[in-house]
Amino acid sequence: MSIHTLLVLYGSQTGTAQDTAERIGRQAQRRRMRVRVEALDTYNVANLISESLVVFVCATTGQGDPPDNMKKFWRFLFRKSLPADSLCRLDCAVLGLGDSSYPKFNFVAKKLYKRLLQLGANMLLPVGLADDQHDLGSDGVIDPWLLSFWQKTLSAYPPPAGLAPIREEEKLPPRYVFHFLDEVPDKQIEHLQTPDNKAPPTSLQPFPARVVFNQRVTHPSHFQDVRHIEFDITGSNIQYNPGDVVMMRPCNAAEDVEQFCQLLKLDPKCYFTLTPTDSSTVAVPARLPQPCSVRFLVEQFLDISAVPRRSFFELLATFATNELEREKLLEFSSAQGQDALHSYCNRPRRTALEVLTDFPHTTSELSIDYLLDLFPEIQPRSFSIASSLLQHPDRIQILLAVVKYKTLLFKPRKGLCSSWLASLDPLKGDIYVPLWVKKGSLSFPRDPDTPVIMVGPGTGVAPFRSAIQERAAQGKMANVLFFGCRSESKDFYCRSEWEEKVQAGHMTLVTAFSRDQEDKIYVQHRVKEQSKLLWDLISKKKAFFYIAGNAKQMPTSVCDALKEVFQKEGGMSENQAQEMLDAMEKTGRFQSETWS
Ligand code: 2AM
Repeated sequence: MSIHTLLVLYGSQTGTAQDTAERIGRQAQRRRMRVRVEALDTYNVANLISESLVVFVCATTGQGDPPDNMKKFWRFLFRKSLPADSLCRLDCAVLGLGDSSYPKFNFVAKKLYKRLLQLGANMLLPVGLADDQHDLGSDGVIDPWLLSFWQKTLSAYPPPAGLAPIREEEKLPPRYVFHFLDEVPDKQIEHLQTPDNKAPPTSLQPFPARVVFNQRVTHPSHFQDVRHIEFDITGSNIQYNPGDVVMMRPCNAAEDVEQFCQLLKLDPKCYFTLTPTDSSTVAVPARLPQPCSVRFLVEQFLDISAVPRRSFFELLATFATNELEREKLLEFSSAQGQDALHSYCNRPRRTALEVLTDFPHTTSELSIDYLLDLFPEIQPRSFSIASSLLQHPDRIQILLAVVKYKTLLFKPRKGLCSSWLASLDPLKGDIYVPLWVKKGSLSFPRDPDTPVIMVGPGTGVAPFRSAIQERAAQGKMANVLFFGCRSESKDFYCRSEWEEKVQAGHMTLVTAFSRDQEDKIYVQHRVKEQSKLLWDLISKKKAFFYIAGNAKQMPTSVCDALKEVFQKEGGMSENQAQEMLDAMEKTGRFQSETWS
């Protein structure tokens, strides 16, 4: 009997779907299958018709959108020209990763499942809808779904006769083998390359932008450090519009890189090359130069600062010889141990590096070849661009809230990307940050007479600063900004810029200082107070309405406030107000961008 092949295709934004796809890949290997795990957009989708068994693992992002690395696939799959029975020879399954606190829960997976059915694919089981809000986290759905998936799959694709499954305690081969070089190579290619002349920079060829300034814009006594950072993009071919985002990959902190290398007895100055264990199914990651230094790998590639996932513990457990450590690691890997793992790792936000220090015996047994199986790749982060090219040619500016908080652990938790960016000091010499730009989810009207109303508390104001700068430079005067912060004297950033623009007649500013008086005043309260102005702009002048920010409840409260405005000024019922908001959303006149 032959060995069967499983193809696992994923669409992943933050790396969770990729991690799940890789986990399914390992389970397939244990069941004696040949397996390939690939991002949907790197896979040649025309080959789907000749596959026999495929599992799709797809996240849903933002407002029900597919992740970036499956957008090309998504467009292809929904072409009208695809014949209805194109996939009739394909056995497949769809697992969605989503969060039921967002309105379009697992929209991508549900839509994909329907489309595959339409194209004649044989669905092995109903679509799996994992939910971050589940009591046991997304594994609460994934584990039983996978059990059922394997039951169905193995009855149609059984392992070759006489080959028993590989047990959980046994190690699978690593995906890559490291070959250390005796000498430092002559040509060191891992330095940043300037992209070729015409193409705008991309994830694989980012532009090294010089940090021009990095200033704190909140009062030193304020609890939060917010930075205004500017990058020089001269010569980059970057063009952007208000609403677009700039992408960057953070580096691990120098002290963490050093500690990691010490723990694993690695010399950061050493160089190595990588070869895939099975080159028919795995390629060397495109972002790793060959040869590559250990420093580059640890500083710029391995995500040692994130909270590790369950699969990390599964693999770590296979190295453990110390009984106590092994028992604990096996518990964290098991379905029953997920509560314990949550308390140990997720709640206090313990990093993978800190876990290694908690399991010293196991760490000392780790084989270097497994580093890329253990640690995911550092994911790029996106920031709303806060400037306009019309006002700041060749520049990108961002407003960055530096993430820092306390948990049960002694050391305060720090956001990897924001702490790294905040630490870059242009006064100490030229510093370059590799970046590229992506279209954001907000877009602004072209018509100069269309007013825009923007609600952006805190750093939510970033895309609106870009829009106001751009529109003011184009002579579009109808800009209304609702800005909220805690206190007029502590975190009212961009104040002088707004005051200038108000004076020049380029905008109307409405502020909500939540803590400058006894009762909280939020942007939604101000929206209600300004009902006449808003109703006039929206009903008569066809204004666009925008919300951006990171407070969880804020967007809902602002929407409710807006509906109250429609009811009060437009004499509408609750239902009619909701319909009006839905209609505005459909036509792009209501847009929101929220993040956590
Ligand atoms: P607070 O921290 O005093 O609660 C920017 O962070 C501003 O948004 C702050 O003034 C913050 O107020 C406010 N904010 C927090 N939660 C909010 C919510 N649910 N709706 C509107 N604004 C909120």
